[in-house]
This record gives sequence, C-alpha cells and structure tokens, in this order.
Amino acid sequence: MKKSSNVTWHNTTVKKEDRHLLNGHKSCVLWFTGLSGSGKSSLANAVDHTLFRQRFRSYVLDGDNVRHGLNNDLSFRATDRKENIRRVGEVAKLFVDSGHIVSSAFISPYREDRQLVRSMFETSEFIEIYLHCPLHVCEERDPKGLYKKARKGEISEFTGVTSPYEIPDNPDIIIETDKMSIGQSVKKIISYLKDNKILY
Ligand code: PPS
Repeated sequence: MKKSSNVTWHNTTVKKEDRHLLNGHKSCVLWFTGLSGSGKSSLANAVDHTLFRQRFRSYVLDGDNVRHGLNNDLSFRATDRKENIRRVGEVAKLFVDSGHIVSSAFISPYREDRQLVRSMFETSEFIEIYLHCPLHVCEERDPKGLYKKARKGEISEFTGVTSPYEIPDNPDIIIETDKMSIGQSVKKIISYLKDNKILY
C-alpha cells in the first residue's frame, strides 16, 4: 500500500485507555464474515441493540450501508473488495480508538483481506465471527432476491455463485445461523465479551 508522504502522526492527549475507564468497558471489533444471506446484518444489529440497551458504546458498520457512501466507488471485483475491507478496517480502528464496540458486517470473502484487518488491531481487539450457513440455505432465504438474479446471470461475481468465499481457518467464534436463533447467537457473543474481559 502506498504511504502518504510529508504527513506527521499526532498523538492525542486522551488515550484509548482513558476512554475505556470512562465507558466502563473495553473496545473491540466484532468482525462478522459469511455469505450473503448468512445473517451478518441481522446479528450485528441485534448485538449492537443489546449492547446499546445496556448503555455500552457500540456501533454497526454494514457492507450495504458503507457501499452507499464512503465506498460507493467500489465494485465487487476482487481488488475492489480488498480496498473495501481495507477502508472498513481503518474506519473500525478509529471507532475502536474512540472506545466503541464495533459490529462490522461484511462478506469479506478473502482470508488475506481479513488477516490484513486483524493485523491493524491488538490481538484481543479483533474478534472474527464466522457465520456458518450452507449456501443452499442462504439461497433459499435470498432476502434481497440477489441469488436469483446471480443464477440468471444478471449479477456478475456474486459470492458463492460466481465468486469465491474462503472459509475462516481459525475464527474466534463460529455461529451456525441455520441452527441457532438470533437470541442464542447474541448470548454466545456477549458471553465471549465477558469471558475475555471486554465487558466487566
Ligand atoms: S465484500 O465482499 O465484503 O466487499 O461485500 P460487502 O461490502 O459486504 O457487500 C455485500 C452486499 O452487497 C450486495 N451485493 C453483493 N454481494 C456479493 N456479491 C455481489 N456481486 C454483490 N452485489 C451486490 C449484497 O446485498 C451484500 O449484502 P449481504 O448482507 O451480504 O447480503
């Protein structure tokens, strides 16, 4: 990645750790990855809602939404997906620095791109959550009718149909969204946050 020249990093007086003390919890990114229709947006939203109701600082970054604005110049070619995930990683890092628990919902189909985002964070700050759901179930759900269009050849490079999805090797959490309810999944993620002393 090209580095900007003639720019200087400015350290801020208020540190991330100061924000953690004020908020009463640590910050992190919950990185939801999985096929279209696997439940990323629904689960990220449910986790965010649960955290918000308990007065924790949280926020959702969602693929469809970010592609409406910040990333509306990017297609679904592999190189553009890579740039999509790199930019989102940088945005998530800003939110984590500001003390938030970020639920990010992006297909993020390539291992290398997810690894790049992981490398931007301290070990305990990046939590990869693989939403495991068989392709045929996602395709039956087809909430936006996109699989149908992809099968008809109306959308090119559609993940799982004409573009690859690389399954995470070693995710921090696996949720089988065809077997677990949203409520059970939220509980599993909140327990993880407590067990790992992000919430206390
Ligand atoms: S990626 O691969 O991480 O860059 O994708 P992401 O930013 O998460 O955007 C995924 C949403 O874009 C819609 N969409 C497509 N998905 C996959 N492949 C193709 N070709 C495509 N075209 C449009 C779709 O609504 C995805 O949302 P989800 O929530 O995953 O269904």
